[in-house]
Amino acid sequence: MDITILGIESSCDDTSAAVLRGGTLLSNVIASQEVHRKYGGVIPELASRAHQQNIIPVVDAAIKEAGIEFRDIDGIAFTRGPGLLGSLMVGVSFTKGLSLALDVPMMEVNHLHGHISAHFIDLPDRKLPHPAFPFLCLLVSGGHSQIVRVEDYDRMEIVGTTIDDAAGEAFDKCGKVMGLPYPSGPVIDRLAAEGDPKRFRFARPSVDGFDYSFSGLKTSFLYFLRDAVHESPDFIENNKADLCASLQAAIIDILLVKLVRAAKYYDIREIAIAGGVSANSGLRRAIVEEGEKRGWKTYLPEFKFTTDNAAMIAMAGYIKYQHSEFASLDVVPVARYSNL
Ligand code: KG4
Ligand code: ZN
Repeated sequence: MDITILGIESSCDDTSAAVLRGGTLLSNVIASQEVHRKYGGVIPELASRAHQQNIIPVVDAAIKEAGIEFRDIDGIAFTRGPGLLGSLMVGVSFTKGLSLALDVPMMEVNHLHGHISAHFIDLPDRKLPHPAFPFLCLLVSGGHSQIVRVEDYDRMEIVGTTIDDAAGEAFDKCGKVMGLPYPSGPVIDRLAAEGDPKRFRFARPSVDGFDYSFSGLKTSFLYFLRDAVHESPDFIENNKADLCASLQAAIIDILLVKLVRAAKYYDIREIAIAGGVSANSGLRRAIVEEGEKRGWKTYLPEFKFTTDNAAMIAMAGYIKYQHSEFASLDVVPVARYSNL
């Protein structure tokens, strides 16, 4: 009988539960928290309260949708970090309680490891393409921008990381200045499709090695807008699509330069992307085009596995289950991990 894993994700503002059987996803339920929208960012206290309200209905829905019973669960995977401590605490405490009640082990998952593990999931009606080891994964989310060299399901190393903002943060912060709702990444993606990416040119950083920096771009964007709005108060409104397209082009350029450099250095042509920003249509297109030029095999995650979800946590937990790597009952959430 295949192993059945329940996955729980509560690191930021999405409460999610998923059921995975033998690497195949049976259900993946996500409750996004609308409560933060009016504040233009995630408010930690409101997030943990919403997780508390959502977690039981979300888990129930995941079990029902999967067509299983609680007694069918062999192990529970949960996000231990990185993330908001109060939010993580809800998932960790829930997992402990359910693990005791069902008498099944629990597996702690690093959220970033989870994003990468999304590439190993299969769907009931079709197998998805899985990158061959070793591969490079560009992991771009609201809190992280990294290049990860993945040697095996559970062996991976960060070879480049941001020294300041993450790519998603660059989208969100610049979007906020333009008066766009949070999270701005998907909105900029949509608006950029109508704009000219060459109309404005914003700063590209020069950082050594495979590390990233987005704060220079953010600053150049802010100063440019400040001056432009000073001249003409309607500037943003009248140029929104071009601003979005040019900003997005800059972020993609910055991401690709280092990815190409790392792929050359490590001589790896299996290239994947993961994390919330990997939903960006411009980035997806650019990676595929770059791959065609350079002989890469590129792997784009299904949209539902790009932003935070419990399917990826269940997958990472399934690998741990197979190695009997179980968490003890005194496990506590962590805001940060020092490595993967
Ligand atoms: O992985 P994720 O859901 O949460 C974290 O672990 O941080 O990533 C959220 C980030 C946000 O910054 C959001 O603006 C960005 O992903 N994002 C996008 C798109 N969809 C989500 N950025 C650009 N284009 C998108 N289509
Ligand atoms: Zn994430």
